[in-house]
Amino acid sequence: MSENLEASETRPSVQEVLDVERNAVPKSLRETRPLDLGTGTIGTEQYTSRAHHDLEMERMWSRVWQMACREEEIPKVGDHMLYEIGDTSLIIVRSAESTFKALHNSCLHRGMTLRARGGNAHAFKCPFHGFTWNLDGTLKEIPCRWDFPQIADSEFSLPEARVGRWGGFVFVNLDPDCGPLEEYLGPIPEHFAPWRFEERVQVAHVQKHIPANWKAVSEAFMESFHVRTTHPQIMPYLADTNTQYDVYDDHVNRMISMMLVPSPHVAEKTNAQQSVDAIIGPGVIAVPEGRTAREFMGEMWRSTLKESGYDASDATDSELLDAIQYLVFPNFSPWGGYQRNIVYRFLPSGNDPDSCIMEVRLLGLFGEGQAPEPAKLRVLGPDDDIMEATELGALCPIFKQDMANLPRVQQGLRASRSRTVNLAQHQEVRIRHFHQTLEKYLAREA
Ligand code: FES
Ligand SMILES: [Fe+2]
Repeated sequence: MSENLEASETRPSVQEVLDVERNAVPKSLRETRPLDLGTGTIGTEQYTSRAHHDLEMERMWSRVWQMACREEEIPKVGDHMLYEIGDTSLIIVRSAESTFKALHNSCLHRGMTLRARGGNAHAFKCPFHGFTWNLDGTLKEIPCRWDFPQIADSEFSLPEARVGRWGGFVFVNLDPDCGPLEEYLGPIPEHFAPWRFEERVQVAHVQKHIPANWKAVSEAFMESFHVRTTHPQIMPYLADTNTQYDVYDDHVNRMISMMLVPSPHVAEKTNAQQSVDAIIGPGVIAVPEGRTAREFMGEMWRSTLKESGYDASDATDSELLDAIQYLVFPNFSPWGGYQRNIVYRFLPSGNDPDSCIMEVRLLGLFGEGQAPEPAKLRVLGPDDDIMEATELGALCPIFKQDMANLPRVQQGLRASRSRTVNLAQHQEVRIRHFHQTLEKYLAREA
């Protein structure tokens, strides 16, 4: 497909900019995986229909590895939180020092949910009649035991989902016959190894309820094509149409959008100082003569990290600055590099195809003993302003622009007469890839 790329809109390429890095460039960033997935359309009912949502639940969500939480969110034995998807509710519990369980949150007596929210517990006691299970899901107690002759203790453990761990994240899979997480994650563990996600600490954790389908929302974060129209103020520092889009196996794709490289649409009239001003405000820092914006800001971030006890002297400017954003199908999107890395997660809201929960985490890097307490969750309703989430810093005004689009995307998908969504062949290939994988799951009967 490369011969179709319009040179004036797609240069310099990521690889050309990596050529002038002073530190060694990791192999993962040198990979280019363009893929031509054609130009087919997508039906709008995928975003609006309850029947489609139900099919996703039955054939996709029931079989995929899903990021449930960070390990540091439940640091002590007995700490737990709920992970909910469609009708399913799981209690994710640290059942021993380094063991995590995902127990179905439904009492085996008459069905009441055992927990209404997360917290800490020694055991899970049902508030209705008091049936109680141990943290590992084995039965602890049945009140009036004599009255339940039909129950064998050893067969009365809470059903559980499969659990996997990578990079400080706890994953769950509802399919007892699923393959291992490591296989599912494809190139992720190798690519992320230098960035040490297992040592990160969550410094922001925000959930925003959005009246739009979870796919419409996640897709708004899979391409840089919308920057020019939705976020024009970032064009002096964000290379939009020259973003690199890579497709790996069924479950993984990524994009690399360069920062401190102006968009090809404004490059001619943007100098290094203007790039830096656009990102941190005018008149804050002067870029020294002869330095590029990238070298200069890369150096600044290296010294900020050093002050918090983390040595990133070998890191490339790309790993310090760029948006190296991966997607692990269906809804887990961690950014690579040595930054306060963003991690997105997009969840349907219950069984409503018209609403979802977008979650943003920031994972900080700290030296030994320097890490703060993990950030507490902030929940923003559909009418709450994302600007309230001040812990997201400079991302807020950018997200605010996305949030203004998304309810209207959903409205327009419902209003569509053509009933089709048309995607760009190159810049929206990640969205196409995502749908192709989704289709594979939906085609597979139980
Ligand atoms: S429903 Fe849970 S103990 Fe009765
Ligand atoms: Fe955006």
